[in-house]
Amino acid sequence: MRPAHDMLTPVTIEKSFDVDRIRTEFPILKQRVNGKPLAYLDNAATSQKPQVVIDAMNRYYLEENSNIHRGVHFLSDKATQSYEAARKKIQRFINAASHKEIIFVRGTTEAINLVAQSYGRKYFHAGDEMIISAMEHHSNIVPWQMICEEKGLTLRVIPMNDKGELFIDKFETMLNPKTKFVAVVHVSNALGTINPVQQIIEIAHRRGVPVIVDGAQAVPHMKVDVRDLDCDFYAFSAHKMYGPTGVGVLYGKQHLLEAMPPYQGGGDMIKSVTYAKTTYNDLPNKFEAGTPNIVGGVGLGATIDFMNTLDFEAATAHEHELLEYATEVLTTIKGLRIIGTAREKASVVSFVLEGIHPHDIGTILDDDGIAIRTGHHCAQPVMQCFGIPATARASFAMYNTKEEIDALVKGIYKVIEVFS
Ligand code: ALA
Repeated sequence: MRPAHDMLTPVTIEKSFDVDRIRTEFPILKQRVNGKPLAYLDNAATSQKPQVVIDAMNRYYLEENSNIHRGVHFLSDKATQSYEAARKKIQRFINAASHKEIIFVRGTTEAINLVAQSYGRKYFHAGDEMIISAMEHHSNIVPWQMICEEKGLTLRVIPMNDKGELFIDKFETMLNPKTKFVAVVHVSNALGTINPVQQIIEIAHRRGVPVIVDGAQAVPHMKVDVRDLDCDFYAFSAHKMYGPTGVGVLYGKQHLLEAMPPYQGGGDMIKSVTYAKTTYNDLPNKFEAGTPNIVGGVGLGATIDFMNTLDFEAATAHEHELLEYATEVLTTIKGLRIIGTAREKASVVSFVLEGIHPHDIGTILDDDGIAIRTGHHCAQPVMQCFGIPATARASFAMYNTKEEIDALVKGIYKVIEVFS
């Protein structure tokens, strides 16, 4: 029997984009909610999973389940091969220089915490500064606040304009000899803004300052090349890119990861342990203490195989068309204000309706099978910038359609009617 990683190697690359065909790959989309066809427009929270990913994970449990890096037996070897094959698929997918630069983590949040705790503990000192942006998700704020408080750093914030675009010139003036690190989001989950991360990295590097990019909302929607970006660290989650929950990736430049102390201690991250002294394993294992989410890693490998079969440019163009269509039709609704109108946006539309709480919008839309997210989107400071407590947010994936956006618009008119 061929191991799962062999069976998942793509054979054909689809050279166009057929949304109806793509939808057939995602079984959950067929279902009806409250008697209506499901319109799943909450992809920035988590995306749905194609059958091939579900199958790969089932197959792992049916045919390969075992612990990795530990056994001399047949199953352990198979499981290890599938897990490590997934790491190499990720390496190629983001164009990292080595598989040693790919650290499996629980998700973006853990990746950022890892860097904050490991890099920050070693290199941050009282009186230093670090910079984040005004449109970060809590996961790219709180880990930095924690380490800054512990080590006595000042956390500075790049401001943004009322469209949700960062002031890059202000960022440039914020950098000074005390600046030790920059953490910035690639695509904002609350606003949809695509930040000019390459430019930010280039500016920071001119001052010798390393940069971590939170790529959770970027990887599903654009080709990310970490070497082209020249980022020092890049974090993303599988579950937002059609993969499983509970697994994600920290990319880090090898020389930086080599110099950083371990994040967590335990099995697999050691070379030898005595009561007198423990020596640590090489990369990437040094940062992967304990039994990892093996099936998650295998599932992420299958997700990348799936994505590699797509014409990614065509899929991205389809998403962009959805974004433009949604922006156009939502703008015509009286009393509706889109929050986040940057020139460069990915497929997120956040909005408020005059006099109606976003939770009420979400609840009424749900009656018609339309799933959106409402609230502060784990980005309370972003909401504070715009002087609002919350928004309603529709976020699109490649399997969404204009008909679903029409259903959203119809639903919003229903909301307005209920509250008028
Ligand atoms: N970060 C996720 C979102 O934006 C949960 O919804």
